[in-house]
Amino acid sequence: MNRRRRIYEGKAKILYEGPEPGTLIQHFKDDATAFNKKKHDIIDGKGVLNNRISEFVFNHLNEMGIPTHFLRRLNMREQLIREVEIIPLEVVVRNVAAGSLSKRLGIEEGTQLPRSIIEFYYKNDELDDPMVTEEHITAFGWANPQEIDDIMALAIRVNDFLSGLFLGVGIRLVDFKIECGRLWEGDMMRIVVADEISPDSCRLWDIETEEKLDKDRFRRDLGGMLEAYQDVARRLGILNDNERPLNGGPRLVQ
Ligand code: TMP
Ligand code: ASP
Repeated sequence: MNRRRRIYEGKAKILYEGPEPGTLIQHFKDDATAFNKKKHDIIDGKGVLNNRISEFVFNHLNEMGIPTHFLRRLNMREQLIREVEIIPLEVVVRNVAAGSLSKRLGIEEGTQLPRSIIEFYYKNDELDDPMVTEEHITAFGWANPQEIDDIMALAIRVNDFLSGLFLGVGIRLVDFKIECGRLWEGDMMRIVVADEISPDSCRLWDIETEEKLDKDRFRRDLGGMLEAYQDVARRLGILNDNERPLNGGPRLVQ
């Protein structure tokens, strides 16, 4: 059915060849995975929501001069992006202790960190994305020191923007993950934000109730994952207040 050439298929997304050289189409699936696919489920409508939420965030980043791979949304599940050379790192920014940081260092979840902390993980499913330091990154040639500086500067700008965005709609940005890529324009190269930014890749807690509005609902078997993602979309003004998901999944404002 799909005549386009598939370039890559990940756990939650597929990349297809784009309409012009240097572009790709990023397709959002409904698959939810955690713990490196040990846990897997299909959540009807999740891909549609993540496509919209990520579009919203990336459009704002572009407008603020934070460079990204995002060009425009094409339809319910797909967006047009620039082809970049993905740097094989998951860049995590943390404002509040949670998840693996809490486990590793014994800090109670919900503890405000003295300052935002950036961590790097090597993107490798077979190894379960191990944490790495700048030493590993430069020694193995995944990125050079200048690129690491650029990545960290981008991560901090994204954190500042996202923290404010979510604070404005009653959500605490606990932590998030971004991926970066090298965008080549002739001989010039710059580092841009790639992949997606959605409740799959952030921890989002309601400010008042501390209710989790992100993928931890799935990781921790809390249920109500789609409803939580819809709540995030609604608060951001992407989804109508009175729209309720029916069997066909969420109906979105165009
Ligand atoms: P962690 O506490 O499990 O290390 O996760 C930190 C943040 O990074 C959290 O917001 C979830 C996000 N994340 C991903 O998006 N993908 C991943 O593979 C992992 C491990 C975390
Ligand atoms: N994204 C990873 C996976 O799908 C881990 C996670 O998000 O918990 O396995």
